[in-house]
Amino acid sequence: TTSPLTPLCAVADVPAGGCRRIALPGRPPLAVFRIDSGIHVTDDTCTHGDASLCDGEIEDGLVECPYHQGAFDIATGKPAGAPCTIALRVYPAQVQDGQVLAALPVQEPA
Ligand code: FES
Repeated sequence: TTSPLTPLCAVADVPAGGCRRIALPGRPPLAVFRIDSGIHVTDDTCTHGDASLCDGEIEDGLVECPYHQGAFDIATGKPAGAPCTIALRVYPAQVQDGQVLAALPVQEPA
């Protein structure tokens, strides 16, 4: 089964080399990254604490958490620096007509 694609924002709304935080109702916030390797969509909240990764530093395909300087590989979500040990969730993303779309998991009823 494939999740339907959810439009998140325009590519132009994401700064080049940067990130945009997207809050959809009923979901944890998402981060749309626009880096050399393309557009990537991940959870925005660090897996180590309650930090917004879009507030972090982005360099060489990594995002550094603003709280304790842990890091993640943006494309894979793998932890790339202590104290982060739990992978960041990543979502399949694509660009259509200048819009970023992501395959998000179907939400469980509350
Ligand atoms: Fe992100 Fe601690 S909250 S490294």
